[in-house]
Amino acid sequence: MHISNNPNNELEQSIVQVPDLVQIPEEMHEMAPKFQEAMMMYTCAIREVKTKLEVLNDELSVKNRRNPIELIKSRVKKPQSIVEKLKRRGLPLTLESIVNNLYDVAGIRVICSFLDDIYDVADMLTRQDDVNLIAVKDYIKTPKENGYRSYHLIVEIPVFFSERKQPMRVEVQIRTIAMDFWASLDHQLKYKKDFIDSDDVERQLRECADVIANTDKQMLNIRKSIESRGIEIRK
Ligand code: GTP
Ligand code: MG
Repeated sequence: MHISNNPNNELEQSIVQVPDLVQIPEEMHEMAPKFQEAMMMYTCAIREVKTKLEVLNDELSVKNRRNPIELIKSRVKKPQSIVEKLKRRGLPLTLESIVNNLYDVAGIRVICSFLDDIYDVADMLTRQDDVNLIAVKDYIKTPKENGYRSYHLIVEIPVFFSERKQPMRVEVQIRTIAMDFWASLDHQLKYKKDFIDSDDVERQLRECADVIANTDKQMLNIRKSIESRGIEIRK
């Protein structure tokens, strides 16, 4: 498996990226040290969940001779985006408000090979006794109106610091390669941008999403039929 952040530098992968004061919007400068500490904590939470996912992937790749996870991406929400989201929702610009109201400060995206891998990975992760499942949104069973598909989880995990154990929330988006292809291009084309509504664009995007969803189902059926004939898919 390939970790997208710094594919060529293992050491860098473990270094926490804490935002500089210049990256923190002015209205939050007063709480900058606390803000930086919180971002460090979210980075650590990402690392914990990522490790859990990597362990599952390693174990299953030995057991089943194929990787359920193709790629894991992660990010800590940019300070500017945090402030914008709080303002958009009319919430106070405080640390407590960030921690209590925003569940996607720490985000992990898991790209799976096949449809059933998504549910297997989600189940295996949430069954772990230190993982507390806060919320699930199954945009695969119920796709968004525009065709968006993914399985979203909010999980809470304990992170052990020098003097305390802190429960931290992480958003985990799990999708297939095909769903990720659609979502990435959809994002490039319009998500969160000023977008002049066009029924035709919407229709075409939804059509692409449906084609992709069918292809995902077909790919799974192909794998299952190969497996039922006792032929192993090797990496
Ligand atoms: P946010 O305020 O954007 O976090 O939305 P939300 O709190 O209603 O959560 P939801 O689970 O609907 O979406 C969270 C995330 O899923 C987004 O930040 C995107 O990463 C992804 N997402 C949701 N809808 C779309 C979509 O239509 N297109 C794309 N490309 N991504 C989407
Ligand atoms: Mg979000």
